[in-house]
Amino acid sequence: MERLHITGGRPLRGTLAVQGSKNAVLPILAAAAAVPGRVVLSNCPPIRDVTVTRAILEGLGVAVQSSKGLLYIDGTGLRGSAPDPTLAGQLRSSVLLLGALLARLGRAEIPLPGGCVLGARPLDLHLRGLEALGVEIRCESGRLLCRGRPRGGVVTLPYPSVGATENLMLAALGAQGPVRILGAAREPEIRDLAAFLRACGAGITGAGSPCLRIEPAPLHGASHRIQPDRMEAATWLCAAAATGGSLRLTELEPACLRPVSELLKQAGCRICAQRGCLCLEAGPLWAVGPIVTGPYPAFPTDAQAPMMAALLRAEGCTLFEETVFSDRFRHVPGLRAFGARIETQGRLARVHGVKALHGARTAATDLRGGAALLIAALAARGESTITEARHLDRGYGELVRRLQSLGATVEVEK
Ligand code: EPU
Repeated sequence: MERLHITGGRPLRGTLAVQGSKNAVLPILAAAAAVPGRVVLSNCPPIRDVTVTRAILEGLGVAVQSSKGLLYIDGTGLRGSAPDPTLAGQLRSSVLLLGALLARLGRAEIPLPGGCVLGARPLDLHLRGLEALGVEIRCESGRLLCRGRPRGGVVTLPYPSVGATENLMLAALGAQGPVRILGAAREPEIRDLAAFLRACGAGITGAGSPCLRIEPAPLHGASHRIQPDRMEAATWLCAAAATGGSLRLTELEPACLRPVSELLKQAGCRICAQRGCLCLEAGPLWAVGPIVTGPYPAFPTDAQAPMMAALLRAEGCTLFEETVFSDRFRHVPGLRAFGARIETQGRLARVHGVKALHGARTAATDLRGGAALLIAALAARGESTITEARHLDRGYGELVRRLQSLGATVEVEK
């Protein structure tokens, strides 16, 4: 999907089932490489990051088949320890193969990973944690060369990095003794990875708390349903709020969305949550905040850009502070093209609500920033074009069809 054409100004209305979580399925796919058996994953989202990860696994000798949201993965034939650099370079999460391959083979050669450009995204916490478990690591011509079966022990993370926690959990599966991770990330996606690994026979306790314990155990195949995507759900809620719509989201866990849904409520939306379902009825919006992003359970950085787009017409001034990534306001110039009034200063952005937005031609710079531009285009009066829309394919499955089902006028421009 290169370019989207949107005729805005129409409220999104209807019911939508939330897709499986991108940030849960990617580490679970990496984990499947550590399992010498058949894994069946359901509720897998039809997104490009999954397609690329699948191709990386196949290149390593893992057999993968798919059918309607199901992935059948058999890691029995895993032979390679060096993922294809071109494919791995497209995805930040490819670095998680480091832990999985170390657990299974005691070696890994990982190209330095890609993904969205959100400022510097170093790997120091991943690497220092693995070194603390006795893994030898060298960096050579853009590749990380890692050797050695991890030993047991305690690793303390100075910051609760999601990826570092996942990598250490995976490496610990093949360790010679129990591993404790202190200062671990508490995101719901960590809980989903732990649930999958437990189904495969691993002994993991403490997922969702800052203190994780992993007991190495022989792994076997298992079935697992990927948890709902809280960031996709947040994006849809922000789109409905921005367009003055009403939306019923199904197949989600409302509790995981609370930091987002509470703010939308304060901004003037009526929200009611039931088991597995959340309804939003938009009203006139007013400013809220300050909105400060942070590790779970704080307001999620992935929802910062969509929330900013939702509040462009809110009465008053909303202050955003981005504390997780150093360069995550790349969508702001694009939002200004729609007539938004936003001032930025370092990690702060001030949004002054305007009466109306107008159509614009803008380019997506990253996945969530692209979603923010799309929300602004849906809320704006008139025609808009979003170029570089391929960023959205990374995380939002069947986007155009699902938007159209809610009454939006959106087309992929040929
Ligand atoms: N960091 C370091 N050193 C490290 C690791 C991280 O300094 O070794 C820093 C990062 O540079 C960043 C902060 O710590 O400033 C948080 O990074 P974290 O490791 O927690 O993030 P991640 O694992 O790279 C995942 C999601 C991101 C999401 C973040 C934060 C996946 C595949 N990606 O990234 O999702 O923003 O956690 O919640 O799970 C997205 O979906 O659009 C997305 C970017």
